Amino acid sequence: MNKITVAIDGFSSCGKSTMAKELAKEVGYIYVDTGAMYRAVSLFCIQNGWMTDTDMDVVEIEKQISTIHIEFRANEAGKSETYLNGVNVEPQIRTLEVANGASRVSTLGFVRRELVRQQQLMGLQKGIVMDGRDIGTVVFPDAELKIFLTASPEIRAQRRLDEMAASGDIVDYEAVLANVKERDDRDQNRTESPLRKANDAVVIDNSNLSLQEQRQLLRTLFQQKTL
Ligand code: DC
Repeated sequence: MNKITVAIDGFSSCGKSTMAKELAKEVGYIYVDTGAMYRAVSLFCIQNGWMTDTDMDVVEIEKQISTIHIEFRANEAGKSETYLNGVNVEPQIRTLEVANGASRVSTLGFVRRELVRQQQLMGLQKGIVMDGRDIGTVVFPDAELKIFLTASPEIRAQRRLDEMAASGDIVDYEAVLANVKERDDRDQNRTESPLRKANDAVVIDNSNLSLQEQRQLLRTLFQQKTL
């Protein structure tokens, strides 16, 4: 069967990575979470003091960007984990602080160019499912299957809240909703590669879809492209 490139873009907390990961596993493709790459850059900047809640040392980040090496390695359970310069940073990059920083460093053109370069190398052989914000528009504009995943901000905030509650974090719904909207706004309105639906992307609004329905839809779309 011919291998294709699958690009999955959309808003934060839409379930892109769950969808992408499941499809990759089912069809034996590589899965790449590009959000994790921006998160790793954010963590690197925070750890080195180049980014605080209010400031970002853009000159220093630009000087150091080529020293950031990001890769994914499977753990014993087969789950892909993010490594920053050889160190497993998977738990650290999932905090709200790092997510907010990722949303800020992802506005920098030189950061985007470096990560896009690395992502394109990862996809040279096809057989890849990549999720992010600019995969169908910038990283792989020729991807055979492009999905634009969306859901209402309120539903996404509630899902995030449920996830956090499941891991013991009690957070205020209004605060999570405000954070979701703030990130949407930044993702859509930045000058560098803003979040946009590619013209040839299929839109899936999963606000009212069960996981099972979403899975089935994606499977059908994938089969149509690989027949
Ligand atoms: O999907 P995520 O929440 O892990 O992404 C973290 C941040 O990185 C998010 O604010 C948007 C940004 N991002 C991006 O600009 N381009 C991508 N391809 C992936 C993520």
